[in-house]
Amino acid sequence: MRKRTAIFISGRGSNMEALVRAAQRPDFPAEIALVLSNRPNAAGLKFAKSCGIATAVVDHKIYAGRNEFEAAMAHILAIHRIELICLAGFMRLLTASFVESWRGRMINIHPALLPQFKGLDTHARALAAGVSEHGCTVHFVVPEMDAGPIILQASVDILPGDTEASLSARVLAQEHRIYPLALAKLARGEV
Ligand code: GAR
Repeated sequence: MRKRTAIFISGRGSNMEALVRAAQRPDFPAEIALVLSNRPNAAGLKFAKSCGIATAVVDHKIYAGRNEFEAAMAHILAIHRIELICLAGFMRLLTASFVESWRGRMINIHPALLPQFKGLDTHARALAAGVSEHGCTVHFVVPEMDAGPIILQASVDILPGDTEASLSARVLAQEHRIYPLALAKLARGEV
């Protein structure tokens, strides 16, 4: 049985799109059963809808607090019988109790070679630090931000003349390659 997977987004959703396209192959071990956004106007929602995937908006701004926001998400996940979660540019921190309830079943993609450059503006910080390699990481989500066991990483060389835009585009191409591989591994029980 293909694992029923939810993807959480906050914006563009290009990683979500890569996951959806991978899951359209009949031999892919996960099915994208839900795309959930905390932002009502996230661009990615349009693509998900055009693929006939169920979408949900849980706007964090209209809830009394994090617990109420997460309770609403948990309810929707239950309705859709979700088994796995992929965070794909989901820009809200989740509480330890929500994270613990999905331990081993929720993964994230981060645009850096963790444990380097946790947090935001990773490409600019990599350039400023003068490192020769940069990349992306898919990891299990744990309560600590951008930590958790690593499933896959991909690196790119930093080239002379690289800008934040050129570097992020090269890293993003790698994100789109490794996120589906990591989800497949998780869905097959290989990690
Ligand atoms: C991606 O680069 C992802 O790695 C990053 O946000 C971007 C979302 O793009 N995630 C984080 O920074 C999480 N800390 P997308 O919406 O096109 O997938």
